[in-house]
Amino acid sequence: MAGHDKIAKTMHMPPEIVQPNVYPLSWHAHTAKLEEVWDAAQREVWDPKKLPWDTFDVDSYTWEEREAIAYWWSLLSVFDASAPPVFAEALIKTYEVHEEDPVRRCFFSVTRDEQNHEQMCGLAITKLLGSPSPLEHTPKTELGKKAQRNTAWLYYNGSRYWNGYKTAVPKYPLAVLFSSFLMGEIAAATIFHQMAAGCTEPVFKEAFRNIGRDEGRHMAICMAVMERDYPKLPPEDAAIITKQIRAGYLFLSAVLFEPPPEFWDLPDDFIEVQRRCEAVAREAGFHVPEYEMKKENWKKAMLNLKGVLDKYSIPFPAIPEVGISGQEILEVDMNEIIPVF
Ligand SMILES: [Fe+2]
Ligand SMILES: [Fe+2]
Repeated sequence: MAGHDKIAKTMHMPPEIVQPNVYPLSWHAHTAKLEEVWDAAQREVWDPKKLPWDTFDVDSYTWEEREAIAYWWSLLSVFDASAPPVFAEALIKTYEVHEEDPVRRCFFSVTRDEQNHEQMCGLAITKLLGSPSPLEHTPKTELGKKAQRNTAWLYYNGSRYWNGYKTAVPKYPLAVLFSSFLMGEIAAATIFHQMAAGCTEPVFKEAFRNIGRDEGRHMAICMAVMERDYPKLPPEDAAIITKQIRAGYLFLSAVLFEPPPEFWDLPDDFIEVQRRCEAVAREAGFHVPEYEMKKENWKKAMLNLKGVLDKYSIPFPAIPEVGISGQEILEVDMNEIIPVF
């Protein structure tokens, strides 16, 4: 090492290593539940390429249907395509803070799963549009044109949060990060199970079943770590969690419900275009839940999370949009949010 003063000849044992340092030289295991989840992750590995793509005849759909279904996958991509680097960053953190071995492995599995989900988005969009990017595709229908504009705005909004996330990860303890992760996982598990149940196209049905199962495991990981850490959570961390839950609601609503205008910077006809795409997709057998159903789901997911936080007396934020009362959170800054999907 250039510039490093040699010390080994001057002392018997090396000095203490300054922390945080990226790797532990230990494999402690304290949380048995995480070992179980890891084993399940190993058993349940799947490959998006090996789904029954040969049964998928894209020409049996009209161009409007293709563009409408691809729009939904693009909307999902705004969240899922950011997930691999988001969890890779969190994986590095588990090493830096010398988390126990099963936590490190579980985060490794989440990163891999999210990579699969991203691949799935890419395969679906490429087949449907005959283009590897919804932004590079030349729209064939009026609705397709509008859908592309919606996608460009979603993408722009999603891109605003990466720098915020990168600064948030070193700032907060894992216990705080996990509440945001859990929120995304509860939400994701809910929607994918529904899509799997309602979709008629076999390749999508199977993909959603696999993704939903992955998200269920991710949820179990977050719960296990929360159960481990929340009983000794300092009160200042509890306050951050309350705020992050409100931020998570605003962020994830774009895919699970509808994007709240105070947080998402979108054109006036955005919702109308999205609703039309969803209606066309639904008609074609691609089951996107309807408005009321989405609202019900989202509310249920929030109440689930509230149940977890109540157990540890962590105040829940007010979410008047779905009729949940709680602590009023006035302002949420895009620059310091953690929510992930
Ligand atoms: Fe995912
Ligand atoms: Fe996930």
